Amino acid sequence: MTILVTGGAGYIGSVTTDELIKAGYEVVVYDNLTQGHRRAVHPDAVFVEADLGDQESLDAVFDTHDIDAVMHFAAHSVVPISVDEPIPFVRDNINNGMNLLETMVAHEVERFILSSTAAVYGEPEQIPIREDDRLAPSSPYGESKLMIERMLHWCEVRYGLRYASLRYFNAAGASEAWGEDHTPETHLIPLVLKVALGQKDHLDIYGDDYATRDGTCVRDYIHVVDLALAHILALEALDGGSRIYNLGNGQGFTVQEVVAQAREVTGRDIPARIAPRRPGDPASLVASSEKIQRELGWEARFPDLAGIIESAWRWHGAHPDGYAS
Ligand SMILES: NC(=O)c1ccc[n+]([C@@H]2O[C@H](COP(=O)([O-])OP(=O)(O)OC[C@H]3O[C@@H](n4cnc5c(N)ncnc54)[C@H](O)[C@@H]3O)[C@@H](O)[C@H]2O)c1
Repeated sequence: MTILVTGGAGYIGSVTTDELIKAGYEVVVYDNLTQGHRRAVHPDAVFVEADLGDQESLDAVFDTHDIDAVMHFAAHSVVPISVDEPIPFVRDNINNGMNLLETMVAHEVERFILSSTAAVYGEPEQIPIREDDRLAPSSPYGESKLMIERMLHWCEVRYGLRYASLRYFNAAGASEAWGEDHTPETHLIPLVLKVALGQKDHLDIYGDDYATRDGTCVRDYIHVVDLALAHILALEALDGGSRIYNLGNGQGFTVQEVVAQAREVTGRDIPARIAPRRPGDPASLVASSEKIQRELGWEARFPDLAGIIESAWRWHGAHPDGYAS
């Protein structure tokens, strides 16, 4: 079975490609390398360097390879940029998603897995968040993912597309070979580790006046390998119907708690300063992943925060300049 992985040169896409290949799938990675890295493309995957806006290249991929399913990771995903520049941000995410869906339909490919996000919920009404809770994105980023989720529904109605929309909370950690290397880096754990490595002199903590136990934001960190494995389970369940799942650990940690844990793991001093809140940041985002556990038997293999940070620390230690190392 051949899977087209858009964004397979990026963080979660590269780890998922690795797990797909280990599970015996053929993978075609489609990535324009704007955020991703050539070295993050699995050596056993076919690589197509192209943009999702390039219709000719997209058609060529579906014409050349016998694609059975698509996993769509490629997107803009930096929340503050989405708030600053909502029109180009949302336009790209939607247009690229629609191009991909249209091309799939034209080539009669009927299985699709979407990288969705906790950002579709906005400020949650209850914790842990369940899949049928209120959807009210507090950023254009979350809005763009929700629009694609809704279009998946209409593509199912009209074209019989089967989809799984996976709403990730905070992906974190690394596998042995594949890790997180974003420019700019906006995710907490790699930023904390950059301070630990002496590549940044301090960490900015965005807001300490949220209604949480120490005033800093609470997030749910899921190991990237656990996330990758959930994609394979979701893919294999698609014949049983389309589905939407949250993916998190069900445990929330404040920014201060993550920094404290990272100090312990690295044995380094990690100076931190309080900075103003960022727009679009809800106080607390913690998943209920009970639905995917119950329906697909998914379970986090690497649930504890120390282990997640340790895996990232090993990868960043071995790749201090990311994939350029
Ligand atoms: N990292 C997280 O914690 C997190 C949480 C929730 C959802 N997500 C979603 O998961 C997906 C993957 O996240 P990530 O952290 O691996 O991101 P990433 O930026 O590391 O990977 C995205 C990849 O897509 C490629 N890409 C972007 N636009 C493209 C285009 N127009 N054509 C072809 N390739 C393109 C980039 O070059 C990059 O390699 C994203 O859709 C993101 O919104 C991530």
